[in-house]
Amino acid sequence: MHVSSMGVSKLCFLFSLALCALLLLIPTLQPSQHQGDLPQPRAHNKPARHPGQTKRTVDGDWVNPLELKDIFIAVKTTRKYHKSRLDLLFQTWVSKAKEQTFIFTDGEDQELRRRAGANVINTNCSAAHTRQALCCKMSVEYDKFIESQRKWFCHMDDDNYVIVPSLLKLLSSYHHTQDVYLGRPSLDHPIEAAERVKSDGSVSVKFWFATGGAGFCISRGLALKMSPWASLGNFISTAEKIRLPDDCTMGYIIEALLEVTLTHTHLFHSHLENLQRLPTDTVLEQVTLSYGGFENRRNVISIGGAFSLVEDPSRFKTVHCLLYPETDWCPSKGHH
Ligand SMILES: *[C@@H]1O[C@H](CO)[C@@H](O)[C@H](O)[C@H]1NC(C)=O
Repeated sequence: MHVSSMGVSKLCFLFSLALCALLLLIPTLQPSQHQGDLPQPRAHNKPARHPGQTKRTVDGDWVNPLELKDIFIAVKTTRKYHKSRLDLLFQTWVSKAKEQTFIFTDGEDQELRRRAGANVINTNCSAAHTRQALCCKMSVEYDKFIESQRKWFCHMDDDNYVIVPSLLKLLSSYHHTQDVYLGRPSLDHPIEAAERVKSDGSVSVKFWFATGGAGFCISRGLALKMSPWASLGNFISTAEKIRLPDDCTMGYIIEALLEVTLTHTHLFHSHLENLQRLPTDTVLEQVTLSYGGFENRRNVISIGGAFSLVEDPSRFKTVHCLLYPETDWCPSKGHH
């Protein structure tokens, strides 16, 4: 009896010890449960800017209902491609984003003017395919975007198909007041150039840039910060100083001068990549597409549908009819 009462008191002691340990653990458990419930505070994302950190997850107050009218889409072209390239774009994706698409060209064209009115901007830049002429157009695109008061600037080339719903979906996961630079890196490593803006060129800078041929987007917040190097002709003088093309100059201003990182995306495509390698079942989820053109006619995305390769060499009409089968020139599903 004496022994068993000793056992009971030992058990009581062990039990109270366990209870104490449990009570001590509860306060440490509680805050972590709360952290899981609440949206991540802003301060958590602030200290370091890594790729993707500007990205907003689809929870809590970070979601912004973005509308098509919030986007400024600039299409860069030249007089000689008005017929061969722009007609196809107007017939296809531009018809889904008429109000927000602006054509930046280098020559007057009454027919184009009748078609797109004030959405055609004659940059008065040279029609030559030189660094100076291309930077001149980018400079006008930037100024017109700032003037437009829209939330997002997206630059496209005249051989891009923009899958408008995908673009809207992608931009909706970011916020236009944050620093966002979205595009496809044109190389698998950063470019290195002599620093001639912040120093005398004796040091070099490394930075990523989004390839212009695949299209890229910039948030309004970031675009405003670029102003000292990009607005009112400053873009041209910045490009002259570092002696790089228009898309590289964008990357230089954003990554090297403003220290904002390019958010790499593979949803944008240019004619410089092997487009046949893009899996067919993912084509409609991409943001931009392209085609090989004169020099590489066979470099097109592989997608079957309403039109043969002869009828639709760029595959843009085929893509358009898969996205919008109700379009009047698309063969309706029941008939052939
Ligand atoms: C180009 O020149 C025309 C005629 O002088 C002018 O009306 C237009 O505003 C100029 N374009 C730009 C973008 O400055």
